[in-house]
Amino acid sequence: MAVGILGLGTYVPERILSNADFEQFLDTSDEWIVSRTGIRRRHIAAEQEFTSQLAFSSVEDLIRRHGRQILEGVGMVIVATNTPDALFPSTASLVQDHFGLEAGGFDLLAACPGWIYGLSIAQGLVASGQIKRALVIGAEALSKITDYQDRSTAVLFGDGAGAAVVGEVAPGSGFLASVLGTDGSGQIHLHRSAIADHLPAGAKMGPHLYMNGREVFKFAVRVMNTATLQVLERAGLTPADISLFVPHQANLRIIEAARERLGLPLERVVVTLDEYGNNSTASIPLALQRALDQGRLHPGDRVLLVSFGAGLTWAASVLAWGGA
Ligand SMILES: CC(C)(COP(=O)(O)OP(=O)(O)OC[C@H]1O[C@@H](n2cnc3c(N)ncnc32)[C@H](O)[C@@H]1OP(=O)(O)O)[C@@H](O)C(=O)NCCC(=O)NCCS
Repeated sequence: MAVGILGLGTYVPERILSNADFEQFLDTSDEWIVSRTGIRRRHIAAEQEFTSQLAFSSVEDLIRRHGRQILEGVGMVIVATNTPDALFPSTASLVQDHFGLEAGGFDLLAACPGWIYGLSIAQGLVASGQIKRALVIGAEALSKITDYQDRSTAVLFGDGAGAAVVGEVAPGSGFLASVLGTDGSGQIHLHRSAIADHLPAGAKMGPHLYMNGREVFKFAVRVMNTATLQVLERAGLTPADISLFVPHQANLRIIEAARERLGLPLERVVVTLDEYGNNSTASIPLALQRALDQGRLHPGDRVLLVSFGAGLTWAASVLAWGGA
């Protein structure tokens, strides 16, 4: 059975924080942020707006674009997030209830690549016949765990959500291969403490995320390349076969390094971080939706999704674009 993406929906909060806004309260500049990251602005959730509401709004957009019937047969809700409203119940349970779905549901924590992990799990559940369709959401209210006094992380992150329905698609379309990886030896480089007090030596406790940007940068440049090549090999393809490269939106220099190593022309790469910053699990669906809205995705196109994040984790997936 061919399994792929039947439809997408996205949401970003109304409030925008520009680089100039950061200049008001941090020792930083628009020039530094743009030249070191490529980010110009990011959307930030309202004080009382949380990940579940961002997820609901992305599903509402999905319904607006594709009709309520796209949710028919959804037997599993997967919410990939680093910022669930609560440790439990899961955000997925809140989504199930909000839309009155008859489905199982769980939250998935695999950091930024979580949405690609979710797509892959959904593909397996559909292909094995356990469910007909899955709703896979990446949703983040990262502003709630960002330390706005720490200039090395504050300027990077934004809030948003993206939702996809995964189900049977026309033969020849859909997921061709996926790669999911993690290497916990890099846990110290990007973390946020929760319950345990046995974090590795040097780990920072507290409500905010902590990141060693340089180490994550080096890892990201390496793994974007290796994961892409590995997933292409599994699918029997080469970089020249990629019609659209949709990388995690963390830093324009990381994307550029990957693009150069893979020998991809600029027009095949989707970049949204100038407007959204890094939305973690929501980055890839937001970028995919942008490409669709710009008419850059056509049936049969080979689309490459690749991401990296805390863990350290990584994921890549290649699919032939096309619906039912
Ligand atoms: C975070 C990141 C943008 C920092 O860029 P960088 O070029 O590596 O910068 P460095 O960390 O080497 O810092 C260089 C200097 O800029 C300073 N700096 C950091 N953030 C700054 C900011 N917002 N404005 C101005 N200066 C800043 C640092 O303090 C440092 O100053 P120093 O030399 O006086 O100590 C970059 O490392 C990065 O993007 N890493 C990957 C992060 C990532 O992908 N995270 C997401 C994982 S999902």
